Amino acid sequence: MEIAFRKADSLKNHPDQSSLGFGTIFTDYMFNMDYNPDQGWHNPRIEPYGPMEMDPSTIVLHYGQTIFEGLKAYRTESGAVQLFRPMDNIKRFNQSGDKLCIPPVDEEFVLHALVELLKVEKDWIPSAPGTSLYIRPTIVATDPYVGLRVSQTYRFFIILSPVGAYYPEGFNPVKIWVTSKYVRAVRGGLGEAKTAANYAASLYATEMAHKEGYTQVMWLDGVELKYVEEVGSMNIFFIIGDELITPMLNGSILAGVTRNSVMTLARSWGMKVTERKISIDEVYAANEKGELKEIFGSGTAAVISPVGHMKFDGTEITIGDGGVGPVSARLFKELMDIQYGKAGDPFGWTVPVA
Ligand code: COI
Repeated sequence: MEIAFRKADSLKNHPDQSSLGFGTIFTDYMFNMDYNPDQGWHNPRIEPYGPMEMDPSTIVLHYGQTIFEGLKAYRTESGAVQLFRPMDNIKRFNQSGDKLCIPPVDEEFVLHALVELLKVEKDWIPSAPGTSLYIRPTIVATDPYVGLRVSQTYRFFIILSPVGAYYPEGFNPVKIWVTSKYVRAVRGGLGEAKTAANYAASLYATEMAHKEGYTQVMWLDGVELKYVEEVGSMNIFFIIGDELITPMLNGSILAGVTRNSVMTLARSWGMKVTERKISIDEVYAANEKGELKEIFGSGTAAVISPVGHMKFDGTEITIGDGGVGPVSARLFKELMDIQYGKAGDPFGWTVPVA
């Protein structure tokens, strides 16, 4: 399929790279493509970034039939641009789509479309340390219909946002609030899909966490409220003794690309890495015994986010000395060095763009 291009009448001023924050600034262009049962995915085009007109009855607005992804483009020291594991995100996009009854996209074509969009927008990719271009591919159901059923038509779009750190804390440790009352997802539900419903389900408890001075919520399983699942925008890791532990994928946890990269890196150092069920009681018991060394989250937006404090059932614990642990620091550095092309790429994770 040929990708059409429609030129913008005027271009935006680029932001100050020293104060980017996350997710508020968008580039000049976006990619769009439509779906209907007769034509399949069609009319791929790069056009000026702007609002989408929708009938007030549009299915996505009422029933949340939508999926999205999050990945980043990085500017290397030589000025080149590269993506980090883009095919893993695109594959997961289709896996999420399967759960939401959204027709699959051609994965190679989506990568091609993304690369074409990035070539147009390459001047938007920031170069200041710790900055990148966040990429948000999304599909929304577009039938104008308020009955509950699967949509027949869809819009696929990719928008781009120059970003700095996701949390105001940057790489400094965050405070996590564990809830044994609210749940994000249950077995058999949508937990492993990257879809709006999971994030909507997280808002109420996250507001409560914020009111208590915590950055994010750590979710326990939706059946027994006992086993750790994930944190609002990240997967979660624990170092107990000399073992790196992360909750195993069980259908209600997002299979994070950064999660997988963390495990691969740590294993390459010879570290024992285990994916298994881990209860909140085990975490607190390990802390009592002095065996809980570090906790950190992983995600595309958050990268590696050390956890300094955690509160569960009224008891707050300090992880290590409350600062950044050595494994978190090493993972952060090695991951960023690969993403920014400062180190070799032993796992073949990066894809050059321009
Ligand atoms: C990401 O890390 O890319 C996400 O999609 C999480 C989102 C809450 C920003």
